[in-house]
Amino acid sequence: MTFPKKIAIDGTAASGKSTLAEKLATQLGYLYFDTGVMYRAVTFVALEANLDIDDEKVITELAERIQIDVQPPSVADGRTADVLVDGKDITWLIRSPRVERNVSQVSTYGGVRKAMTAQQRRIGLRGNVVMVGRDIGTVVLPEADLKIYLDATPDVRAQRRFDEKRLRGEDVTYDEILAGILLRDQIDSNRAIAPLKPAVDAHIIDSSGKGIEEVYEEALALIEDPIEE
Ligand code: DC
Repeated sequence: MTFPKKIAIDGTAASGKSTLAEKLATQLGYLYFDTGVMYRAVTFVALEANLDIDDEKVITELAERIQIDVQPPSVADGRTADVLVDGKDITWLIRSPRVERNVSQVSTYGGVRKAMTAQQRRIGLRGNVVMVGRDIGTVVLPEADLKIYLDATPDVRAQRRFDEKRLRGEDVTYDEILAGILLRDQIDSNRAIAPLKPAVDAHIIDSSGKGIEEVYEEALALIEDPIEE
């Protein structure tokens, strides 16, 4: 009997995936790997270079070319990891509204997904990892020992994201956050390749009306339920 070594956490935008995964990874001493940052990094670099986001070929070539590194946090400013592209720290830059408006589109491209999935899988297969995304349990790491799919109502998710951003001093409105979340849900769930959906063997947790601790305890119970080798 053993604890799960590869844990996949998928779910909708702002459903609390990252918070849960980070807590679990800290508790277990596992690597925390948020795969969304890779799609955000490609989007950020494309926008910086004034590339046409609708040009699949150009964006795919970029994704195949750039070197994205995710490392343990080097600065205590609320970040959970350093995100570097070709050596440059872009950790906070990938959280901008502009990146957020374009990242779902970039993540629909098959070639971009292929490049990102290969890198993610390599890291995931090493084990002792809590991996977060949209397609970890279904595509990136289908052999994960434990799969959790996290969701919450759009209102709850928008409120959480709004609170987070206001806390960081960002000038945003609840309505624009909600609209952004609904749009990303729509694109993420309906894309042709690796759409957002729970794996058949995923444990679904609805975090609406639940605090961080409650969701964490629920997930921990799944982890402490030992699996047969
Ligand atoms: O989790 P996030 O908000 O940082 O994700 C940003 C975008 O990246 C999201 O719109 C969907 C996409 N994504 C994906 O398609 N597959 C993943 N494994 C992770 C993120």
